[in-house]
Amino acid sequence: MGALAGVAPSILAADFARLGDQVREVLGAGVSVIHVDVMDGHFVPPISMGAYVVDALKPLATEAGALLDVHLMVERPERHVGSYASAGADVISVHAEATPHVHYALGAVREAGCKVGLAVNPGTPLDVFAELRDDIDLALCMTVNPGWGGQPFLPRSPDRIRRLREIVGPRVAVEVDGGIDETTAGPCAAAGATVFVAGSAVFGAPDPSVAVRTILASLDQGVGQTV
Ligand code: DX5
Ligand code: ZN
Repeated sequence: MGALAGVAPSILAADFARLGDQVREVLGAGVSVIHVDVMDGHFVPPISMGAYVVDALKPLATEAGALLDVHLMVERPERHVGSYASAGADVISVHAEATPHVHYALGAVREAGCKVGLAVNPGTPLDVFAELRDDIDLALCMTVNPGWGGQPFLPRSPDRIRRLREIVGPRVAVEVDGGIDETTAGPCAAAGATVFVAGSAVFGAPDPSVAVRTILASLDQGVGQTV
């Protein structure tokens, strides 16, 4: 099984008419995480995709030894954890803002046999991670407001990531999501991020596999860079 690290292409920006081919292409470039954005039309305005897509992509991910990383942008995520786990999710992230029962929701993800992710919007205080760091494998720090691909990276994000890394310590993977490309990934890496979700920078590029490699190469150059 692949590591929960590196560039995680977000299929939200893929060409849905040839989704399988696009996923095979980035898996061929060596990515070990495929990011699946689930939006419910309530927690965020758009509706994107559901568990059927996870089910359809599972054989491709398994063949490549890659993880399916499901980002639930849905209200009351605890009600949906079971269906995404059954469909083949390896990692499920729930938003702290989406339920009054976040500890329970994280427990439901663990119980379902998946790696546990906790996500926060840009305006949410990071304190929730201090309470829950022992219960999670992944801390997802949104670097745009969730709901749409192609938005500009919020420049205050590296400072947040630095504080988040201090809170969760070295064990937990720190994932950044939104506006990540070869100019913004490096500063996030320098601040402590280890998983880099990229939608339009990968699938909007003429060659997605080249785009993956360009972002990966930029990670080492992030120290000292600003955005
Ligand atoms: C935004 C989603 C992101 C999105 C990122 O709500 O969570 O995963 O696909 O898209 P880009 O990389 O285009 O900002
Ligand atoms: Zn996402």
